[in-house]
Amino acid sequence: MSFITRRKPISAPHHHEGEHRLKATLSWPHLTALGVGAIIGTGIYTLIGVGAGQAGPAVILSFAVAGAVCAFAALCYAEMATLMPQAGSAYTYSYAGMGELVGWIIGWSLILEYTVVCSTVAVGWSGYAQGFLVSHGWGLPAALAAGPWGDVPGLVNLPAVVITLAVTGLLLVGTRESATINFYLVIFKVIALAAFVILALPEFNAGHFQPFMPYGFNAHVDADGVKRGVMAAAAVIFFAFYGFDAISTAAEEAKNPSRDLTIGIVGSMLVCAAIYMVVAAAALGASPFEVFAKSGEPLAFILREHGHSMAAVLIAAAAVIALPTVIMAFMFGQSRVFFAMSRDGLLPKSLSAVNSRGVPAAVTILTGVCAAAMAGFLPLKFIAEVANAGTLAAFIATAIAMMVLRVQRKDLERPFKTPLWFLVGPLAVLGCVYLFTSLAAVTQVLFFVWNGVGLIVYLAYGRTRSRLAGT
Ligand code: ALA
Repeated sequence: MSFITRRKPISAPHHHEGEHRLKATLSWPHLTALGVGAIIGTGIYTLIGVGAGQAGPAVILSFAVAGAVCAFAALCYAEMATLMPQAGSAYTYSYAGMGELVGWIIGWSLILEYTVVCSTVAVGWSGYAQGFLVSHGWGLPAALAAGPWGDVPGLVNLPAVVITLAVTGLLLVGTRESATINFYLVIFKVIALAAFVILALPEFNAGHFQPFMPYGFNAHVDADGVKRGVMAAAAVIFFAFYGFDAISTAAEEAKNPSRDLTIGIVGSMLVCAAIYMVVAAAALGASPFEVFAKSGEPLAFILREHGHSMAAVLIAAAAVIALPTVIMAFMFGQSRVFFAMSRDGLLPKSLSAVNSRGVPAAVTILTGVCAAAMAGFLPLKFIAEVANAGTLAAFIATAIAMMVLRVQRKDLERPFKTPLWFLVGPLAVLGCVYLFTSLAAVTQVLFFVWNGVGLIVYLAYGRTRSRLAGT
């Protein structure tokens, strides 16, 4: 079979010999918490400011558009995750649905996504950590507070580098994802957002929503070279919504996969969408968007503006304590994608080998160092967009794989079926393609260059070493 068309069999054994079989201990409340834990992060805590700068008060529409696209994609993920409950997520689904070459491209895109998400969340964390330090009179010198290309240029974003390396270190000593700790941190993050809403709502001024759409709807490049408009902001805000795909990696730990995974994936996505709409409305009503758009800690900034300095400290504390869990979730995701790809022979086994503590040290260190370097030097909006490009590719591939298998493999037993799949699938694909075209041109070019490099790596390595080579 040609390397382009060979497909991963859906009946493939789910686990490798010798691999530990994880105990099925998680039910839908844990999985929903896992999803919410990976979803709520820099997107709502920080990028809300960036998005407001691009769309004005109409950033609320950007939230709605990005949320709707993610909801369609989440339904496709729920179908594929319950059909193929194995490591690798979108990489595995597209390998099975569309063949090895597409599978490789999606896996390679996920590697980019997971690394860059860690950097983005680290930069968001840094904004809140610095706000927290400043409020205690311990501001950092400007050179160590930001990378060279931000609004306020410095030399290196030291806190972002430190938190990325700290999480990498924690993972190396074998700290395991703990559903229980995650559960409490999720509650903490949600309570902090609820407190924000309660304090911001009394300051609500409908006048802050006028003019509602100062930069128009479609993405366009303004005279200052910045891409603006509701859709340009939606392409950035999209970052806030993903993470639900992380639940698919916990598939084998679900007690009742078809019910628990479906509720976990779709439920966490919907819960977050509802929370985000309320937080965004409260933020926009409380302060003119120009005021908080440039802040590195917009929610704390708004509270301080209205004299709630203690609450501002608390929300910053919530961000500082809870955002690293998002980094952790994505670093785990990275190692699972590497596992799946090297298990299939497309990447060297040595990269995903686990040490005596059961930690995939090589891939963790590689991811940590690359993520730290990007977090130290690159601006938030840019890295968030790069992460989004990889994720959009994965979402598109998952939706197409779902549709291809619906047509070609009617025989498969599907524990969860995407409702109105012939509508939801195309809407997910079209929504993601439109968001991709709304990203900055430099991001799109970078994505294709990354995949060009990936193609060379595949042709030089994986094509002949694939487990399916010669089949
Ligand atoms: N959705 C995650 C965040 O906003 C990646 O941090």
